[in-house]
Amino acid sequence: VSGSVTLEDRAKREVGYSAVDAYVRDGTCIGLGTGTTAKFAVDRVGELVAKGWSLRAVPTSVATATQCRMLGIPLANFGSEAIDVAIDGADETTRGRDLIKGGGGALFREKAVALAAATFVVIVTDRKVVAKLGAFALPVEVVPYSLPVVLRELQTYGVPITHRNRDGAAYLTDNGNAILDCAFGTIDDPGALDARLQALHGVVDTGLFVGLTARVLVAGEDGSTDAF
Ligand code: 5RP
Repeated sequence: VSGSVTLEDRAKREVGYSAVDAYVRDGTCIGLGTGTTAKFAVDRVGELVAKGWSLRAVPTSVATATQCRMLGIPLANFGSEAIDVAIDGADETTRGRDLIKGGGGALFREKAVALAAATFVVIVTDRKVVAKLGAFALPVEVVPYSLPVVLRELQTYGVPITHRNRDGAAYLTDNGNAILDCAFGTIDDPGALDARLQALHGVVDTGLFVGLTARVLVAGEDGSTDAF
C-alpha cells in the first residue's frame, strides 16, 4: 500500500533498483545480498528475469533464496560458477568503503559471495555512511561449542557484548552458529581488528568487510544520490 511506504523505503528501493540496472548484465551469474535494502535489488532482478533475461543468482541467505524462488530467479550453488557482480546492503560504510555487515546475521555467506564476485557493489541509504566504523555493534559469528571460550576472550576487550537472541531463544545463523554483537564504539583499524578476531579459535567470521567493495551506491531520503 503506497500510503505505508516510508521515505527510507523509497531510498532503499531507488538504490537497489539503480544498482541492478547499472551493474547486472544479461547472461551472467550474480550474487544477491540479504536485508531490507538488498531485497529491492532482488525484486529488480526478478523483473529482469520476468522480461526474459537469462540470469542465475547465488543467494547469501535462506531468506534471499526464498525470495528468489518466489520471483522465479534461477539459483546457482556457491562455487558452481563465476560470480560477475554481487550486490548487498551494509549496516555501516566509510567513504573508504570499509563496512560493518551482519545485522541480518548473514555475514558469513555475504563475505563468501563478496570475496568470490568479480565486482562487489554495496547499496545503502545515507544514514549508513559514517566517518568511522563501530557505532553499530559488530556481529561476530561463533561456533556454539566454543561460545563460552570465545565470549571470555572477547570480554577482555572491555566492550559491551550481546549474545544475539530471536523470539526469546538464541539466534542461529543459516550455518547453525551463534552471533555475538560487540559494541566497539569506534574502530580505528578495521583490518587489524578483523584479523585479531578471526585468529580466535571458534570465531567463524566477523562482519568487518575491509577492502572488498568496488563501489558504494547511496540514496538519501531527500531523493539525493551519491557514490564512492
Ligand atoms: C545482513 C546484512 C545486511 O546487508 C545489513 O544488515 C543491512 O541490512 P538492511 O539493508 O536491512 O539495513 O549484512 O547480514
